[in-house]
Amino acid sequence: MLFKLALLLALGAAVQAQSKDWWETASFYQIYPRSFKDSDGDGVGDLKGVTQSLGYLKDIGVTATWLSPIFSSPMADFGYDISNFTDIDPLFGTMADFDNLIKEANKKGIKIILDFVPNHTSDEHEWFKKSIKRDPYYKDFYVWAPGYIVNGTRVPPSNWVSVFRGSAWEWNSARGEYYLHQFHKKQPDLNFREPRVQQAMKEVLEFWLKKGAAGFRIDAVQHSFEIRPEYDGNFLNEPRNRDDNDVDSYGYTQHVFTVDQKETTEMIYSWRKIMDDFKKANGGDTRILMAESYSPVDVVMEYYGNGVVNGSHIPFNFLMLQWLNDKSNAHDYENAINTWLNNMPKGKTANWVMGNHDKNRVGSRLGEDRMDLVNTILATLPGCSITYQGEEIGMTDVFIPWEDTVDPQACNSNPEIFQWFSRDPARTPMQWNNSKNAGFSTANKTWLPVSSNYLTINVESEKKIADSHLSFYTELHKLRKNKTYTNGEAQVKAINQNVLGIRRSLKNDSTYITLVNIWDQLEFIDLSIAFPETTSSEFEYVFVNRRSQHSKKDKTKAYSITLMPKEAVVLKSTSSELY
Ligand code: NOJ
Ligand code: MG
Repeated sequence: MLFKLALLLALGAAVQAQSKDWWETASFYQIYPRSFKDSDGDGVGDLKGVTQSLGYLKDIGVTATWLSPIFSSPMADFGYDISNFTDIDPLFGTMADFDNLIKEANKKGIKIILDFVPNHTSDEHEWFKKSIKRDPYYKDFYVWAPGYIVNGTRVPPSNWVSVFRGSAWEWNSARGEYYLHQFHKKQPDLNFREPRVQQAMKEVLEFWLKKGAAGFRIDAVQHSFEIRPEYDGNFLNEPRNRDDNDVDSYGYTQHVFTVDQKETTEMIYSWRKIMDDFKKANGGDTRILMAESYSPVDVVMEYYGNGVVNGSHIPFNFLMLQWLNDKSNAHDYENAINTWLNNMPKGKTANWVMGNHDKNRVGSRLGEDRMDLVNTILATLPGCSITYQGEEIGMTDVFIPWEDTVDPQACNSNPEIFQWFSRDPARTPMQWNNSKNAGFSTANKTWLPVSSNYLTINVESEKKIADSHLSFYTELHKLRKNKTYTNGEAQVKAINQNVLGIRRSLKNDSTYITLVNIWDQLEFIDLSIAFPETTSSEFEYVFVNRRSQHSKKDKTKAYSITLMPKEAVVLKSTSSELY
């Protein structure tokens, strides 16, 4: 009896060690609602459009989707300027539409993650209006400072520059002070040193948790805190960056006082506690946090937790996104990937991101013939994969001339340089089929133009073609649900200058090897040089991209593998012994 009990306990522990929480192996998909699907023909995507498209998400293997902001907003930064955190902007629909989205998504087993924007509100938020009037409760909700009088003229409190160019300080004559805006001047920064702000934002999280959100993507988290004000209410200047002489450029200063203040991490831990407490009190699946921060690796790693308390489940991994370009070789890929894996605290989950609504599209950054390679890498690495809408069908940037540019980050610049800043090219409407506006909308004019390549690059057409971007994506996201991928170990190596290898293995199970030839030469590979355990093993092709000369089920020996230029394959060991 005792023996049986011990055995059961041991078995239980083993099973527990193996089983992962839903988010740890998830395929995440980012929806930019303005550009996903327009249900009411006004040229802007909406919530009903998302609900209508849930079947598609299910088909391509999506576990959870994070939505860029859908809350009340004057849209100065297309929803990242929020005037009411707990309501839906009419452009996107109603609260009933949101409830329905959650209901339908639940039925399909797809989780909905919302965008949480703690750093700033809209200047049309009632908190800001009250803060201007020095309402006793709200007066310190924002970062206010008097500035200085120099030779009879008022000047800003410090040299701080906005991410969207120009001074980060805007004079407010009604209050008689400057307010800080690290982004658009219609996005005043909240003052996170004010406990009332922390409380108000906690209530925002709880509101949406109760509504059924499966978690949050946290916006611009590194900007949450600024250095404390000086004795006179003003702030210290940031040191200059010697190589940038443009006073309006974000690169003009080193952001030592406006980003990555040590309090940020503690704040993340407290938000994590809200997620965990909510689950304890209400049951259900784990609610997660995905933290957006383009901070140094060591800072981002602290977001995971400090060994005692936990933090963000998924601090976005932007290393590949930031470090890789069309010149990168296999060693660069290996370095970007392993830098994350080697720095990650033990027991945490990796995540892989190659695009979002703020960056040029993968095909336009790395080359169109590398899109499938990137999707192959992202799907076969350990942990979560994160896809920006349209990357699964191979959408590319759309050139938008200065006159038609709407992104504030670009509009704040000038016709000579706007293209460096504009995020419009990566935000054009999702391409669903080859009908009007790519099936995105019935409007005469969509908010951004539809790409001219939509006749071939679209969901419906690609579904019918076995070697389309979409078919490959769907296949890969099915493949990644097997046990070796969800539970196995990973080794990532440049096999030579041009070929990247990813080995995934699990005891008593098959080993999988991803091979991608990033460059334009024919490559002859002996796998065992990078992965010695594979010597003399036999493999079967389980995934091949368009460039491959092989078919699925073809067999190959580890020591003689040929790769065509830009070929991507996944091989599976025919025996499980080479673990
Ligand atoms: C990051 C968001 O992704 C971006 O789109 C936005 O402009 C800024 N944060 C400000 O909220
Ligand atoms: Mg609409």
